[in-house]
Amino acid sequence: MKSMLTGLLEWTDARFPLTKMWDEHLAKYYAPKNFNLWYFFGSLALLVLVMQILTGIWLTMYYKPDAEGAFRSVEYIMREVEWGWLIRYMHSTGASAFFIVVYLHMFRGLMYGSYKQPRELIWVVGMLIYGALMAEAFFGYLLPWGQMSFWGAQVIISLFGAIYEPLAVWIRGDYVVSDATLNRFFSLHVVAIPMLLLGLVAAHIIALHEVGSNNPDGVEIKKKKNADGIPLDGIPFHPYYTVKDIMGAVGFLILFAAVVFFVPEFGGWFLESANFVPADPLKTPEHILPVWYFTPYYAILRAIPDKILGVVAMGAAVVILFVIPWLDRHPVRSVRYRSSLFKLLLAVFAVTFVVLGYLGTQPPTPVFSEIGLRLGEIYFSFFLVLWYYSRERSAACTWTVLVFVAVIMLIGDGIRYDEAKAGLMMKSALLPIGFYFVFVFLPMIAPGLNASKPVPERVT
Ligand code: HEM
Repeated sequence: MKSMLTGLLEWTDARFPLTKMWDEHLAKYYAPKNFNLWYFFGSLALLVLVMQILTGIWLTMYYKPDAEGAFRSVEYIMREVEWGWLIRYMHSTGASAFFIVVYLHMFRGLMYGSYKQPRELIWVVGMLIYGALMAEAFFGYLLPWGQMSFWGAQVIISLFGAIYEPLAVWIRGDYVVSDATLNRFFSLHVVAIPMLLLGLVAAHIIALHEVGSNNPDGVEIKKKKNADGIPLDGIPFHPYYTVKDIMGAVGFLILFAAVVFFVPEFGGWFLESANFVPADPLKTPEHILPVWYFTPYYAILRAIPDKILGVVAMGAAVVILFVIPWLDRHPVRSVRYRSSLFKLLLAVFAVTFVVLGYLGTQPPTPVFSEIGLRLGEIYFSFFLVLWYYSRERSAACTWTVLVFVAVIMLIGDGIRYDEAKAGLMMKSALLPIGFYFVFVFLPMIAPGLNASKPVPERVT
């Protein structure tokens, strides 16, 4: 006799494709069998998204979105609401955890060429998610109405004003950051952007399941199927990867709990001390800094002496990530089979991004600003070299690239030339010169350094 549950399932399936969806996306979704630790971060990003939404719902039950009561309501959550401190620390730590997980997830994409044909749209939708996430974090940061909330928002909004002043007034809804700003940021943070994020994440996964996952070897598993049409190197997502992802989630939650319970402010990196002081429009804090996940871009902004150019460069540093699938056209996907030089290039890019992030958290001394500018040049050069490596280049092409870059950098240095800093400028110029020497000049005289390895037919 059929159990009640089977009966209910059949009844539902006749009206809604429940089993069909389960099969398509889990039980009969064949994923490559060689996923490694880097493949945890997609499911971890999903976990953090759910956690942020749930803790956010509970915080909203007690939070007051008005300039008079916002700061006090957060203190009330921390001190009076039962378990309020836990929910609040989970949410504030969750914001940083989200960016850590997403940055690692993006780096995995870069390593294994997961953005390459036919996965360009997965990457582009991912970038839209990243943009939405930055907006979500920015709007959320104003809500506690502390000193850094207020002044951070003031600085970032004024950047839009540098391009077109009415834009800043339009964003603030006032001539200064005020109650009106707090109300609209609350609405965007709590309703609009989370809805957008959920829609984008659904599109991200639908696009992924349409073409199938890439893997650490960059081999297309759909090319080798058995007589039943099942990829030889594939295994059903459920139960294999559901179990594996649960293990990843447990590991992540242990680390997450350690931070939430023992170092929730994380030495000022996750929650700054200035934000435990109520917003005061008459008192500017000594250093106004964004949270760590924005600081690589902030360092680029600050390093450029011209404000408008700085804003444009900062925007370009994010926008250029969208077009990576069309810059890197190299036929080999995974870093495993690409040249030693390419491996070094990826490492240099990651280090540049992290050091820029660090510089963005430090006071802008002349030395730090100069290094920031050179690292900014290296940051953008990475994308040029990605394009340059897409196929074998002639010596004429290499020289054209080298001369083009040298002219641009010389013009830049000429414009910002300052006799007092001439020595520093010359020394720091060694950074981009070294970069182009290693990544563009060397492969011209020793092509073996940039030779890829043969890619296996099946995953290893
Ligand atoms: C809320 C944020 C995000 C969530 C929840 C999310 C979720 C996922 C999941 C569950 C997967 C499949 C599992 C895996 O491959 O790890 C995936 C794959 C992928 N994601 Fe994301 N993602 C997010 C953000 C991003 C961002 C910002 C990018 C890049 C700009 C990105 C690019 C990719 C790519 C290229 C793949 C395919 C990877 C492969 O097959 O090798 N994702 N994502």
